[in-house]
Amino acid sequence: MLDHIGNLSRSHYCGSIGPSDIGKQITVMGWVHKRRDLGGLIFIDLRDVRGIVQILIPPELTDVFSKAESVRNEYVLAVKGEVCPRSSGNVNPNMPTGMIEVTASELFILNDTLPLPIQINEAALAEEDLRLTYRYLDLRREKLQKIIIMRHRMVQAIREFLNRENFLDIETPILMKSTPEGARDYLVPSRIQPGKFYALPQSPQIFKQLLMIGGFDRYYQIAKCFRDEDLRADRQPEFTQLDIEMSFASEEQIFDLLERLMAHLFKTVLERELVVPFPRLSYADAMNRFGSDKPDTRFGMELVELSHLLRETEFAVFKTALEANGVVKAVVITGGGNYSRKQQDALIELAKHNGAKGLAFAKVGDNGLEAGITKFLNPQEIAAILFETGARSGDLIAFAADSWEMSCKVLSAVRNRIAVDEKLIPEDSFNFVWITDFPIFARNEEQNRWEPAHHMFTMPKEEHIPWLTQPDKIGQILGQLYDLVCNGMELSSGSIRCHRYDIQKQIFDVLGFDEADLKDRFGFFLDALKYGTPPHGGIAPGLDRMVMIFSGAESIRDVIAFPKTLKATDLMSKAPSEVPEAQWQELHLKPAD
Ligand code: AMO
Ligand code: AMP
Repeated sequence: MLDHIGNLSRSHYCGSIGPSDIGKQITVMGWVHKRRDLGGLIFIDLRDVRGIVQILIPPELTDVFSKAESVRNEYVLAVKGEVCPRSSGNVNPNMPTGMIEVTASELFILNDTLPLPIQINEAALAEEDLRLTYRYLDLRREKLQKIIIMRHRMVQAIREFLNRENFLDIETPILMKSTPEGARDYLVPSRIQPGKFYALPQSPQIFKQLLMIGGFDRYYQIAKCFRDEDLRADRQPEFTQLDIEMSFASEEQIFDLLERLMAHLFKTVLERELVVPFPRLSYADAMNRFGSDKPDTRFGMELVELSHLLRETEFAVFKTALEANGVVKAVVITGGGNYSRKQQDALIELAKHNGAKGLAFAKVGDNGLEAGITKFLNPQEIAAILFETGARSGDLIAFAADSWEMSCKVLSAVRNRIAVDEKLIPEDSFNFVWITDFPIFARNEEQNRWEPAHHMFTMPKEEHIPWLTQPDKIGQILGQLYDLVCNGMELSSGSIRCHRYDIQKQIFDVLGFDEADLKDRFGFFLDALKYGTPPHGGIAPGLDRMVMIFSGAESIRDVIAFPKTLKATDLMSKAPSEVPEAQWQELHLKPAD
């Protein structure tokens, strides 16, 4: 028999009761986390969103006792009783409420449950797919509840900080026209206008710039963004950005704002001091030293450039790469001299997986280089490699000979893999770094044209603006573009925007954009640029990734209440799903053959 809640009202959260409540008559409500029958006594661990409290059912209350005998895990109870100190043998120092227990005087069974498809227990974690199917049960897990609560506190602290800095929270449309972030759009067909589609925003980029033109000089929004791209551990098809834009701001002001915001979050959410300002690395330095524009700077193992020492080499692998205008780069795996053939092969596989032709090795012994490719190198080359890498006896050197981009990519992957395998990453450290001075254009060799490296509304560095009309300088033009990286994860991207139409037009010319096409896609925006646009810029930290960093979550799915799988499926509701044919017709769509 289930009880009605009637006028019962909760007086305390389970997890918030402490020694100062001893002697109080209280009412708690929650789920049965565990029931233990100990020779005539029943203990129930009752759980709510704040934690767990132990309920003691005294055997002399026979009605209450027999009711308690019928409860199972995850039944929903209300308990009235008195907060009592635990007898000294029962004190549990590992539990926040471990000094006390509630001696029940009344017990109400508010609901029962079917047998659970998954256990609400870290120790018996079910397969992720099953947990996602029953997400509402998985959300009862302490770990997930803690992360979701942390996410709430972060959003609260973000709003607190930005409101104080005179930012206005302004909403922008979800049904809109395609944006220029470069991923694939999610489209929504229009019923009223056959053959026409809205796009869901990949970001509020254009609208936030229009808000600056509209005279709001400081905007933010906790904004949902939608991108139909290949998913990974740190990507979701719908995710949240803390979107920020400021008028009359320089890169320095945006860096300062973000650093103070992060420090505020560290203090209020993690109760930690964050050292600011963050170090900065130019894109070129980040690539040359770490092989990546999102370097994990928690450990060293920096890349070493060897090309200039190997110009005359006869080793075919190196020679071919250098003759094709490529490079030879290396990393030293400290103490890797004892790596087995199998371990080396695994790294070669990793290199190939990243698109390289291979990875070469040489060991360092007491008498210099040994084994691997040593036999292909002459004594001068060996000496130069040893000097340049600083490798010592017992180390292993891994070489990548390829285009600059590919060598960087491969050695960055090797570096990250070794860091995990060799436990080079200090726990509990947060290494923020600004990556600056990105090139504004990227060369598409296949199509023989320039593409925007970020998006096309970025302002070049002032001193590089004249180069927009010098074809041989285009590749060297750097933008007022920046990323904030933490522990090897791109946390946020931003730029100072191009607020002048004359410069914007030159950028379009470099990209070879057809005026008519542009007018159709962004005409309203280009027109707006002509009506007194203030200088402005902004940034958009990914909120989900911020919560990952703050909470230490390894998967983005752990920081979102209702996430999607790598196939962009919601396993719980089974979205995306088929719709009746009538709906196709209404939307003027035809099913694919
Ligand atoms: P960008 O495209 O670099 O820039 O995105 C900014 C940040 O958003 C987060 N992010 C994602 N998080 C989870 N899943 C995804 N699929 C995903 N894609 C991006 C990342 C990323 O750093 N409008 C510009 C910002 C600006 O210039 O102000 C923009 O969207 O943390
Ligand atoms: P191969 O001549 O292809 O048998 O390669 C000889 C060695 O050089 C093997 O260990 C390969 O993994 C390695 N290797 C091949 N291509 C490259 C490359 N581009 N950079 C570094 N090492 C390579």
